[in-house]
Amino acid sequence: MYLSTSTRPPVPPRPPVTPPDPRRAAPPALLPLYEVPAPLDDLYEEIADCPRCVLARERSRTVPGSGPAPCDLMFVGEGPGQREDELGLPFVGRSGQFLDELLATIGRSRRDVYVTNVVKCRPPGNRDPLPDEIAACSDYLVQQIQHVRPSVIATLGRFSMARWFPGDRISQIHGQARVIDGITIVPMYHPAAALRDGSLRAVMKQDFAQIPALLSNAPGAPR
Ligand code: URA
Repeated sequence: MYLSTSTRPPVPPRPPVTPPDPRRAAPPALLPLYEVPAPLDDLYEEIADCPRCVLARERSRTVPGSGPAPCDLMFVGEGPGQREDELGLPFVGRSGQFLDELLATIGRSRRDVYVTNVVKCRPPGNRDPLPDEIAACSDYLVQQIQHVRPSVIATLGRFSMARWFPGDRISQIHGQARVIDGITIVPMYHPAAALRDGSLRAVMKQDFAQIPALLSNAPGAPR
């Protein structure tokens, strides 16, 4: 039997689609990294809805960053990989494990450093981020730096290095810090490069070993 339009019960509105909470899939050790520092709350929400470039179409979730704000030490990588895209956290795959190892050598853990990437969404198939994608995301990084107020930024890999050292080669300038706009910027290899070429592990450890001194000698550091 058909009901006329006027007697048909109204179609209930579709419930909003809420993506599953990534914390349910995350190992317990990572849960503290989901804490959003108050100064970054609005920015993370804005990033979560970001439509600025094609990466928005294919991401599972955005990966704004992790760690406290303010924070004396910040790391800027390239872009999320598959595991990061699943969990919404930066550096939680194999590169992240090596980053954790490097941090331990200087007495730091992921909970007391701020970590982000030049692009906040995964480039499909882990391809390199394109210039227009990096440009679209650039203002988010500027705002993060303003809120985090790091004394030292370590760039991880060539895409974040290019932001402060355009035209330079990582093999020639890694580990050589420069003060730019009042922040000590030190270019480092990307942890994934050290996973591909084992000889870079020792190089990265040496570059990391400088970080404590860079922090104590940074402009504006407490003396
Ligand atoms: N590589 C990056 O550059 N960033 C991540 O978050 C993970 C892997």
